[in-house]
Amino acid sequence: MTNSMQRYLEAKRSVDDRALNRRVLERFTAELSARPETKPVRIVELGCGVGTMIARLVEWNCLPARVSYRAVDRDAASIQRARESVPARLQAAGYTVDPLESGADGTVEGGVPKSTTLVARPDETSDGGGTRLEITLEVADAFELEDDADAVIAAALLDIVDLEDATSEIADLLAGDGLCYAPITYDGGTTYAPRDRLDDRIEAQYHHHMDEVRDDGSSRAGSELLAVLPQQGWNVLAAGGSDWIVRPRGGEYPDDEAAVVAQVLETMADALEEVPSPELGADARRRWFARRWRELEAGDLVYVAHNLDVLARVP
Ligand SMILES: C[S@@+](CC[C@H](N)C(=O)[O-])C[C@H]1O[C@@H](n2cnc3c(N)ncnc32)[C@H](O)[C@@H]1O
Repeated sequence: MTNSMQRYLEAKRSVDDRALNRRVLERFTAELSARPETKPVRIVELGCGVGTMIARLVEWNCLPARVSYRAVDRDAASIQRARESVPARLQAAGYTVDPLESGADGTVEGGVPKSTTLVARPDETSDGGGTRLEITLEVADAFELEDDADAVIAAALLDIVDLEDATSEIADLLAGDGLCYAPITYDGGTTYAPRDRLDDRIEAQYHHHMDEVRDDGSSRAGSELLAVLPQQGWNVLAAGGSDWIVRPRGGEYPDDEAAVVAQVLETMADALEEVPSPELGADARRRWFARRWRELEAGDLVYVAHNLDVLARVP
């Protein structure tokens, strides 16, 4: 994966921070803290990208005192980035971070260690009690794992995979009573302001590409998840909207959020190239994208994407 993808994953952190549905997250936090304290709570995160969720859950005090957290992504460069950024953010949050082991399972292409583990404890200045977080960052396919987890996290992942296969694989990774937390699952809405008369056609073609051309995934994954989970016997505990809103303030985007919109525009342009449509000529399409790029560069473009956060208990 390219550096621009990692920049995008880092840039969307502040967008996700605002978007995450607090009611669903609070229920997830409460369910985690209700797990028995006899052993560390085991969390497996699938498609963890550059590790932003791990640090967020620590910073926002969402995790129980003793946690064993296995974060997996198939993209080695993203896991390498997580190996730098997760310790830095935990240290900034008042933790002492030590490596536990390195390369226990050898290396993947490019000599990147397949798996590394770190241990984070609150430093003396913090009141951490018996807090101990063991975090393993691993290059692996999310759907070729074995585990016995209390919770699986799949953030911004279930909209790009086969939903029914993914949810049954997640069920296999969970211990009895285990939880699946799937925040930022895309649910069929990409809008921009100011409005353009081609917006609806562009969005329809983008969704058509997601549904019919791309290998897996769905433009309506969020609401489909709410149907698929009960069909498979899951108990949906909480669900709520987590829309992304990126908007300039005085012509400037906060943090690096313009990079999020840039990545989405690039993804949309590539997708629409692959689905020519008689109602949407190539010239009109290019003019639409040129307009959006101009507005982004001028700090005039607002971008909104509709997502759902879902928390469910395994059958
Ligand atoms: C949209 S990104 C989301 C990343 C992260 N969860 C976040 O919200 O910032 C999707 C991530 O899933 C990873 N991914 C996709 N399919 C995967 C698979 N089968 N196994 C492991 N990782 C996968 C990609 O490499 C990418 O990092």
